[in-house]
Amino acid sequence: MGESPPMAERNRKQKRWGDATLAIHAGEDHFHQAAAVGVPIVRTSNFTFASTEEMKRWSEGKSSAYIYTRNGNPTLAVAEQKLAALEGAEAAVVAASGSAVISGALLSLLRAGDEVIATRPLYGGSYRLMRDIFPKYGIGVRFAEADLAGIARMAGPRTKVLYVETPTNPSLRLVDLRKAAAFAREWGLVSMVDNTFASPVLQKPLALGVDLALHSGSKYLSGHSDVIAGAAAGSAVLIRRVRSMIAQLGGSMDPEAAFLMIRGMKTLAVRMERQCQTAQRLAQFLARHPRVAQVHYPGLPSHPDHRLARRQMKGFGGMISFELKGGLAAARRFCDRVRVFLLAGSLGGAESLVVLPIYTSHTNMSVEELRACGVEPGTVRVSVGLEDAEDLMDDLRQALV
Ligand SMILES: Cc1ncc(COP(=O)(O)O)c(C=O)c1O
Repeated sequence: MGESPPMAERNRKQKRWGDATLAIHAGEDHFHQAAAVGVPIVRTSNFTFASTEEMKRWSEGKSSAYIYTRNGNPTLAVAEQKLAALEGAEAAVVAASGSAVISGALLSLLRAGDEVIATRPLYGGSYRLMRDIFPKYGIGVRFAEADLAGIARMAGPRTKVLYVETPTNPSLRLVDLRKAAAFAREWGLVSMVDNTFASPVLQKPLALGVDLALHSGSKYLSGHSDVIAGAAAGSAVLIRRVRSMIAQLGGSMDPEAAFLMIRGMKTLAVRMERQCQTAQRLAQFLARHPRVAQVHYPGLPSHPDHRLARRQMKGFGGMISFELKGGLAAARRFCDRVRVFLLAGSLGGAESLVVLPIYTSHTNMSVEELRACGVEPGTVRVSVGLEDAEDLMDDLRQALV
């Protein structure tokens, strides 16, 4: 189907659109031509070939026609183009989960004998992938601090990838992405960042020189605690490699999940704005509370990475963590007392949540490993949702007795 004159005009304008407009409209042009405003879920596992000639061309890698949903599907393509537009990337690929995209992206670039340098404060699943699974396949891992101190001594001829996460789950430390990208370029490494906590509305790693931005789409991108999803954005060449590995390993996204991620991304910018505002108020409240020992939120001037956050992020995000005087016992008492906040894992949805990382995202780690990741036994992680800030504040007040 050719490009209609209004559509051509629209595509020209897209270059000047802001994140909220991109999140709502990017990637949907071909569906609008068919007059559907909502994006149809193309619920099919396979697609017909126009002819055996097309079948032959596909086998030779010369056709981009849809063949099988594990390799590509029009609904998935909308989610991919939307994320690529938000990340300022040439291309993107979606996957069945954040974990599928993280393992797929890393495995597409690493082979036995290679090494990856990874910052140690990481989502527990990413840390365990590197600590427990990669060594079984001959892939070496060197862990670095979030401030990247001493990484020049870790790089060598076998190093292929620099993997970072910022802000970190749940310690809320930041990695300087410009510094990470410059280091990776100097050593010829592919740099990748888990951009889940910030979302592309608050942080654009590719503009800072990072090669791949990865997401758990189960969190802010979808935003409603109703889907498991993942995505990566980067150059067309890198994304082709990542896509091929994800499809080969069987980690492709389902069209239903793609629809939920598309719907979620349409409200990402407004949700993020509200979540940042409320999180800032709650973090300030917690920082002043006599029962609180320490608050980790990049929006507080006392946070060690506050200046970097101002430079690198458009807002400070909706995630907070803190420790109470009284450690784990006090943290458990607090979590058992909240009424508006739900006691649940995951993050980035409409509902505000509290969780103890040592029992959820960061299980199966020693106390030393937890400390190196910035996690105390009594660390409480808060995902700020979309409720009225006053109700959340009252809930914190009554739970902190
Ligand atoms: C920062 C971060 N990255 C990746 C993941 C993994 O994503 P998923 O649960 O979608 O596999 C999570 C999940 O909690 C996360 O918090």
